[in-house]
Amino acid sequence: MIGTAQALVAPGKGILAADESTPTMAKRLAAIGMESTEPRRRAYRELLFTAPGIGEFISGVILFDETIRQRTTDGVPFPEVLRRQGVIPGIKVDAGTTPLAAFPGEVVTAGLDGLRERLGEYASMGARFAKWRAVIHLGEGRPTTACVEANAHALARYAALVQEAGLVPIVEPEVLMDGAHSLERCAVVTVEVLRAVYEQLARHRVVLEASLLKPNMVLPGQDSPVRAGDDEIAEATVMALREVVPAAVPGIVFLSGGQSDEEATARLDAINRMPAQPWELSFSFGRALQAPVLRAWRGDDANTVAAQAALLHRAALNGAARRASYRP
Ligand code: 13P
Repeated sequence: MIGTAQALVAPGKGILAADESTPTMAKRLAAIGMESTEPRRRAYRELLFTAPGIGEFISGVILFDETIRQRTTDGVPFPEVLRRQGVIPGIKVDAGTTPLAAFPGEVVTAGLDGLRERLGEYASMGARFAKWRAVIHLGEGRPTTACVEANAHALARYAALVQEAGLVPIVEPEVLMDGAHSLERCAVVTVEVLRAVYEQLARHRVVLEASLLKPNMVLPGQDSPVRAGDDEIAEATVMALREVVPAAVPGIVFLSGGQSDEEATARLDAINRMPAQPWELSFSFGRALQAPVLRAWRGDDANTVAAQAALLHRAALNGAARRASYRP
């Protein structure tokens, strides 16, 4: 497990999050004017996973339950296609968020019921790591302590079960960028959330060396009138992480969370321009890797090669950002 965690944050590489749930994938396809059908979702994922040479910049891919069971047109299971590319297959195991009773506007992540059995099945299908996303809304009186604790506790129970199954847990507490809050407020809440998460991980005997953290970058809310520069974001992000994340964690793989692809890469580059930190600082991007692919593909087979080239290009730029050598 420790070897897998280290391989996922190998120099110059990062993770492709291709684990959109069926409703989320429908939104992504609608944005390019397409209806979401099982064959179309399969064709799109095949395009991603068979992009020639993605293993040079992509260490792992996070799959969704439907996706891990799908095959290429030639009948090769997706986890096997990824292995042949030198890419580690992973699986999203949470069941999405559900309203936290008595706390309007706050959510907790579901999916612990039956998780042990599902992990056994995913492991037998070739998954070597897992992901669970907790979502924290920031606003007037939010997040509450109850919400932060409930989400941290669920993340720890998930992570312990994942390690029991011999997989690496990616622990993802996302403080959303929705709202008009300041960068400073995002920093305070991010530290509070991460502190609760690491307390619970310790209590639940999670082996940090065999885990990865997938946090938000520290950003002003997207409706905030005050914009922040890449260096300011990088400094606030690294300071928040240094405050709380134990050095035993091998790597931190940022989510993109609604930043544009260029913004996410530029900020990852700025983060890696900071003085060396105890952990590898990498990416686990969904939208920031796939947006240019969807734009190039538009659901037309004739565009497959161009769409794969767009993925390779974006992945290579993020690989460069890991070495602080991204030039837009
Ligand atoms: P984004 O990079 O689009 O935020 O997706 C990453 C992810 O896996 C969210 O759970």
